[in-house]
Amino acid sequence: MLKFKKLFDENEYFEDCYKAAEKIFEEDTPKDMEFLDIRYDEDYISNLEAKAEEMREDSDYFILIGVGGSNGAARSLIEGLRLSKIKTVYGGNFLSPIQMQEILDLISENDICIDIIAKNFKTIEPGSHFRMIREAMAKKYDKEELAKRITVTGSPGELLNRIGEDENYFVLDFEEIVGGRFSAFSNVGLFPMIMAGADIKSYFKGRDDMLSKIENDPEDLLTYVAYRTSNFKDGKDIEILSSFDPRFKYFNKWWVQLFGESEGTNGTGIYPDSMLFSEDLHSMGQYIQAGKQIFMETFLRIKDYPEVDFCESNIDDDFDYLLGKNFGEINRAMEEATMTAHTNGGIPAVLFEIESLDEYHFGQLYTFFLIAVLVSARVIGVSPFEQYGVEAYKEDMFKRLRGNDE
Ligand code: PA5
Repeated sequence: MLKFKKLFDENEYFEDCYKAAEKIFEEDTPKDMEFLDIRYDEDYISNLEAKAEEMREDSDYFILIGVGGSNGAARSLIEGLRLSKIKTVYGGNFLSPIQMQEILDLISENDICIDIIAKNFKTIEPGSHFRMIREAMAKKYDKEELAKRITVTGSPGELLNRIGEDENYFVLDFEEIVGGRFSAFSNVGLFPMIMAGADIKSYFKGRDDMLSKIENDPEDLLTYVAYRTSNFKDGKDIEILSSFDPRFKYFNKWWVQLFGESEGTNGTGIYPDSMLFSEDLHSMGQYIQAGKQIFMETFLRIKDYPEVDFCESNIDDDFDYLLGKNFGEINRAMEEATMTAHTNGGIPAVLFEIESLDEYHFGQLYTFFLIAVLVSARVIGVSPFEQYGVEAYKEDMFKRLRGNDE
């Protein structure tokens, strides 16, 4: 089970923020979190598994085409757990010609299958990549073979899914009640996870256990929200998610997007940033410890590490003090020391701990933070679903590319 620990002293705003969070949790959150109500029965999952099996059969690579919320949860889980039933590569998340060329080379040299995910099929990255990838695939596969290798996940009845139906691709709905960054437990997260070989049953169990925990006892959730919002009121503009293992790289990115896109609006919002320790202690550790004190820090660690013992050596390199310890203990010493130094330095902090890195705990982490952001945004005074800010650059970009501002 996900564990939560307070490492901060409550400030003068804490109590009011806690009460505000409690009220929002009771009044607004049940409606806001409807997207977590989607349930798939066993037949449905078996059907996805069968399709995934078919797509993997004659493929070397699976290209997941999508950007932001449309690939974030799946990528974080697939890369975090190193799932490798098929090698997943990511496209449609940049406009880089270098990346595009790499993908085209990959297609010409290997057998490929894809899932293109876009809620709004006007998004330029997945849209342009889908065309390039589809056409490159059409050079090597006939129409029937191509159809076998393509899944589309778009809004029901909209252009992407209509193309999918016309071309006989496998079509999944990007469910209407689900927004991009909230899509971890929908078709959007699900199909790529199944492709990569995830244990979907335990993933959903993680979600369901966390939902019941929060329903029965929301104290950890409300404390986390009150920690963020009360420290924000106190001038801590930035929340850093400091994870103690590089396997959290894409989880950190998922988390940053979730909070940044949901809260940064109307001239307010906590700025989310993330670190991977211990590497980032050698770059940003100095600023966090001794720079301008605008931070709160949310630590994330794994309880049970694999046992990798430190080895003996005939060469005297001055590292014998590590003998008899394993890397779990060495990492833990770094974790404890970092938390102590940062909190002693005046940084308000909390700690999340998962027992092990697996689908179950990913299910729990996603669920906890998805609900937390719904409550937190409203305590700050914004709607978690607003994101007009991301449209601003697009107007100018489309003018440059289309010659008008459609
Ligand atoms: O959370 C969001 O809404 C965004 O990050 C979207 O997921 C992202 O912009 C991609 O959108 P779309 O699926 O419409 O291409």
